[in-house]
Amino acid sequence: MSDTDTPAILVIGGAGYIGSHTTLALAAAGYRTVVYDNFSTGHRDVCFGDALVEGDLHDRKKLAQTMRDHDIQAVVHFAALIEAGESVVDPLPFFENNVAGTLKLLGAMQDAGVGRLVFSSTAACYGNQSTGDLLDENLPRDPVNPYGHSKAMVEVVLETLAAAHGLNAIALRYFNASGADPEGRTGERHDPETHLIPLVIDAARGKRANIKIFGTDYDTDDGTCIRDYIHVNDLASGHVAAIDYLLKHNEVGFQAMNLGTGRGNSVREVIDAVRKMAGKDFPVVEEARREGDPAILVADAGRANEILGWQARYSNIDGIVRDAWNFAVKTDQ
Ligand code: UFG
Repeated sequence: MSDTDTPAILVIGGAGYIGSHTTLALAAAGYRTVVYDNFSTGHRDVCFGDALVEGDLHDRKKLAQTMRDHDIQAVVHFAALIEAGESVVDPLPFFENNVAGTLKLLGAMQDAGVGRLVFSSTAACYGNQSTGDLLDENLPRDPVNPYGHSKAMVEVVLETLAAAHGLNAIALRYFNASGADPEGRTGERHDPETHLIPLVIDAARGKRANIKIFGTDYDTDDGTCIRDYIHVNDLASGHVAAIDYLLKHNEVGFQAMNLGTGRGNSVREVIDAVRKMAGKDFPVVEEARREGDPAILVADAGRANEILGWQARYSNIDGIVRDAWNFAVKTDQ
């Protein structure tokens, strides 16, 4: 290692929502960070790395060169297409980017001799297996859309490489990423936005006519879907904990871990939290169910708690809504 022995971490997709928060958290934990992004969906004004390399996930040579140039000790990989609904309509780009692109990255890691990876995975790996119990990592992968398949396929590749070549890889399965940096340095800026919390905030701020509830006849207390909303800063600290762990342990192999809170909120509870923050009412329209939505998705976060010593600290719905609200107002989205 160089640079006074401060480990350098390559953050692929560091200009995105979770990537930008994680870069801030890695820096706060004392790591050097190199952001690598092609800016297809990311934003230049939230690149917080010590260095920035503009490049594509498919550019194996550039990736390997970047790892050598910066003496990279571990990689965190966020760069992915994420819209599950869009993946059903047009699946090929999801496999091209999320699977084929990640294979290039893994090749580059081999070329440069980098053997530690934290991979952005998803609760979508579980598909519709929720019975209302907390979802734990012992359940088989059973995605129900191409987005979830693309992530589950990469998990299989990582597992295989871990067995064959000793790759050390942790796949973090995020539940519902939400909120924003409490200091307002970065936040959620998807285009188009499809996620519940920013859409409800837009409705409350008069930026859209209403919020639609997709389904009020689910088998839940208030009839709407329940999700495990996890503050993006908790996701960021989960990545720091995974990097710490990979740098301390030599034979990690492949491990999948949930990042969630173990508690869920219904769509109506989210709307109520935004109503409270806004201090006013706004139109809510009850619609039919959206295809592919499981009724309840809540994580058992025991494995990440136990192995990484990680705990969600920011993830209560009022705090999530407050930080998301403040970011939306600040950037006037
Ligand atoms: N919802 C509405 N109205 C909207 C938007 C969403 O009622 O306008 C509902 C959805 O039906 C769902 C809940 O709000 O019940 C949350 O929906 P999101 O679109 O915000 O998030 P999802 O749970 O569908 O999916 C998100 C990510 C996925 C990830 C998953 C993991 O987008 O990539 O969380 O739980 F896999």
